[in-house]
Amino acid sequence: MSSPWWTGLDLRVLRHVRGVLRRRGLELTLVEKRPEETAAFAALSGDDVGGAGLAVIAPELSAPERGLVEIMLGEAAIDVAAALRDRAETTSTEPPGRRTSYHGIIGGAAIMQDLYVLLDRVSPSDSTVMIQGENGTGKELVARAIHVGSERRDRKFVVTNCSAFNDNLLDSELFGHKRGAFTGAVADKAGLFETADAGTFFLDEIGDMSPTLQVKVLRVLQEGTFNRVGDTDMRKVDVRILAATNRDLAAMVAAGQFREDLFYRINVINVNLPALRERRDDIPLLIEHFLARHRRQRPKRLTPDCAAVMEAYAWPGNVRELENEIERLVVLAGDEPMIGPDLLSPRIRQWVPADPAGAEATPDSLPAAVEALEKRMIGAAMRRHNGNKTRAADELKVSRRNLIRLVQKYELE
Ligand SMILES: Nc1ncnc2c1ncn2[C@@H]1O[C@H](COP(=O)(O)OP(=O)(O)OP(=O)(O)O)[C@@H](O)[C@H]1O
Ligand SMILES: [Mg+2]
Repeated sequence: MSSPWWTGLDLRVLRHVRGVLRRRGLELTLVEKRPEETAAFAALSGDDVGGAGLAVIAPELSAPERGLVEIMLGEAAIDVAAALRDRAETTSTEPPGRRTSYHGIIGGAAIMQDLYVLLDRVSPSDSTVMIQGENGTGKELVARAIHVGSERRDRKFVVTNCSAFNDNLLDSELFGHKRGAFTGAVADKAGLFETADAGTFFLDEIGDMSPTLQVKVLRVLQEGTFNRVGDTDMRKVDVRILAATNRDLAAMVAAGQFREDLFYRINVINVNLPALRERRDDIPLLIEHFLARHRRQRPKRLTPDCAAVMEAYAWPGNVRELENEIERLVVLAGDEPMIGPDLLSPRIRQWVPADPAGAEATPDSLPAAVEALEKRMIGAAMRRHNGNKTRAADELKVSRRNLIRLVQKYELE
């Protein structure tokens, strides 16, 4: 396992930066290293979802403060996302307004408001949280948000993906080992639970953990104790555990693959993340957010038809897929400030939405099925190209005359 990226960072420097920002009521969160970029702030706040970066933080800071932050973080050469948080708002007793971001989580949909309210309540507690959601819905992001919203925010946030190691390795990774415990154990080594002491431990893909390790994790949860591999000395830690999986743990319990006692112990609070297709209204907001991240040169924009295709697409890979698509578009657009639908990945550009009528009976003959498919594909292509028949015909690889005939036949004008 590679150590967390922030290990290379001088913690005193970090504390100092935090201090500077705190005095201004701002919260600094280290989110993600993007080595290809020089140090950059991506500031997130309710009023500035575009993440305008240092420019927005800047007016809030005095010139010397700004210089200090710039120099320190610039030298650290890391990418820092600073979550701007208006403390007055979060601590006030008035009901908070609609939030469009929450510690780096972007989204303003009603379902996200419920999520933020839940996170507000859950974060300050020390309770174990089970985070569930499809791939790319932001489970790790939510785990970080919980950490940042807790008293443990100044301590470590440690992540381990339980599916990335075999059993023995994971055991030693999590709990450490004594010298000579196994071949290659040349020295005593502390595990990640010790690293995370007083902080938060995010166990990703916990459903992939073996029954033996499940027992050890349960013991940490119940008693806060464990042994390094091959060691008889009992050790104690104070770690808050967050867990995630996209497997059906309840079904695994029923099948005898996951310990029931651990299941109930980690399932105290359940946070379910919505799929992106369940909050389509947030797609424009997310597009803006990810475009703003790539503002190394001039900021780019999507043409309305390009945005329309993205808003209609199903996004099976959720926010991660959207994020990657924007990165790809920005690269492919080169110096062009406007990004058109022609640059979209073929699977997105050619995606055919399910028939909105939906209720139509399944065609029972081949000609009827072919007609239904023709109608759907042509309808979708016409929408993608804003009714431009030459371009729709081009994409569908039929002659323009043929397309015009079919458009009339199916009344798709
Ligand atoms: N609501 C969101 N706002 C902004 N970025 C998001 C959001 N959700 C996810 N992302 C981004 O999408 C990517 C995937 O998020 P994350 O790793 O948290 O997902 P995950 O649920 O853990 O996925 P997986 O199950 O595949 O591990 C990250 O780059 C993350 O920053
Ligand atoms: Mg994940």
